[in-house]
Amino acid sequence: MSQDMAVFKGGVAVITGAGSGIGEGLARLAAKQGMRVVLADVAMERTERVAQEIRAGGTDVLVVHTDVAEPEALDRLAAITHETFGDVTLLVNNAGIETLGYVWELPAALWEKTLNININGVIHGVRAFAPGMLASGKRAWIANTSSIGGLGIMPIQTSYVLSKHAVLSFSECLYLEMQMKRAPIHVSAILPGPVATRIFEDSKTAEDPMNANHGQIMHNMLASEGISGDEAAERILPQIAAGKFWVSTHPEVTREFANNRASHLSNLADPALPAELLAGMGLG
Ligand SMILES: NC(=O)c1ccc[n+]([C@@H]2O[C@H](COP(=O)([O-])OP(=O)(O)OC[C@H]3O[C@@H](n4cnc5c(N)ncnc54)[C@H](O)[C@@H]3O)[C@@H](O)[C@H]2O)c1
Repeated sequence: MSQDMAVFKGGVAVITGAGSGIGEGLARLAAKQGMRVVLADVAMERTERVAQEIRAGGTDVLVVHTDVAEPEALDRLAAITHETFGDVTLLVNNAGIETLGYVWELPAALWEKTLNININGVIHGVRAFAPGMLASGKRAWIANTSSIGGLGIMPIQTSYVLSKHAVLSFSECLYLEMQMKRAPIHVSAILPGPVATRIFEDSKTAEDPMNANHGQIMHNMLASEGISGDEAAERILPQIAAGKFWVSTHPEVTREFANNRASHLSNLADPALPAELLAGMGLG
């Protein structure tokens, strides 16, 4: 166990989207810190495999089928977790999907699905778990997965990008609410940079072939430049433990995105993307 994560020892971690990528890495690392872990996901086969591997290391693991798009499923997750393991120490609202397509081409159902998972999944994760965490009076941590995309803009990924902006502002307000309540609950926003996961493989797209092309470019970028889910977790978890609000996997990229956004806004500049990015998307 790493010294800087010793605060988590003996605690209970709940991680949504724990069946793959960043969530899987976080679950494995939380278990290594001596936490009991609750894996919530919709992909049961993959999640059970992760659970088996973690159990083999001697950790108590609970797998709960949870579609974060359904508020009641998160209520159920909170109830089962409390019955099984007691008070929650760490909640990571991490499940998220990518959806590609022009705003007007995405079917309404796909818009709804994306926003329900990426935004409402985080909101209702907090709504379902925070009362128990507050009632326990114990020190606890809530981390919500946004993205460096939460500090940027990207056409074709509009539904995803806006959802990550929403998670960021939600987390900022939540942080202040916990301060107003003088609650011992740390709030973090996780802004991963490129992590090689299945997120673009599983992405939902509108029909225009441009979307599949964009998805392939992004998938290739993550596969060639992304760090692994385990490496991402190694970078993320100590920052959460330290009570940092801004949690990055690639701090220099986060700072660059933040600076660009700040200067863009302070100049009230029209929306624009770097020329090389447009060219890479075949839009140059
Ligand atoms: N990979 C990256 O480069 C990157 C960058 C920035 C942000 N993120 C964010 O990190 C988080 C994790 O993404 P990842 O890259 O590990 O993706 P991933 O696709 O590898 O893992 C996401 C997991 O979420 C699960 N999931 C999907 N819909 C769900 C639902 N309705 N309810 C419960 N679980 C559901 C999937 O089954 C999967 O196991 C996401 O919020 C994503 O937006 C990823």
